[in-house]
Amino acid sequence: MKKLLIFALFAGLLAGCYYDNEETLYPSLDKGCDTTGVTYSKSIVPIFQTNCLSCHSAKDYASTGGNINLEDFTMVQLLALQGILFGAVTHNSNNSPMPKNGAKIDTCSITKIKIWIDHGALNN
Ligand code: HEC
Repeated sequence: MKKLLIFALFAGLLAGCYYDNEETLYPSLDKGCDTTGVTYSKSIVPIFQTNCLSCHSAKDYASTGGNINLEDFTMVQLLALQGILFGAVTHNSNNSPMPKNGAKIDTCSITKIKIWIDHGALNN
């Protein structure tokens, strides 16, 4: 009886950990977020257009976007590979939280950014 209880506890712990990890990695899995075929042009650019280009456009980035042009792929890729892009959109304490002075973007968008970075931050 005791053994069974310990086993149950342990299994529960393991399941708990696994669930936590999945949640952290891809927070919006199973919540109606379509993460199939994530690409830069189809998935990431629209997120920038909706949430970021008001400050980070090619036209205005020098005055409103802290010199970060999110319409310049080379710059975006560099920020992505250095972890700065993900840190900013997840409000990681090492980066300036983005959108500046705004709430975090939705978890589905954050998940897509993560998937795109995990696959090499390609210009696809
Ligand atoms: C209201 C204007 C504004 C919006 C909207 C905005 N940003 Fe920024 N962003 C800035 C400014 C200004 C900086 C320069 C650093 C600072 O002032 O915090 C910056 C800095 C950054 C940085 C560098 C962060 C660092 O830690 O060095 C990244 C990456 C970034 N923005 C990405 C984004 C993304 C992605 C979005 C949309 C989800 C976004 N920004 C929306 C104004 C904005």
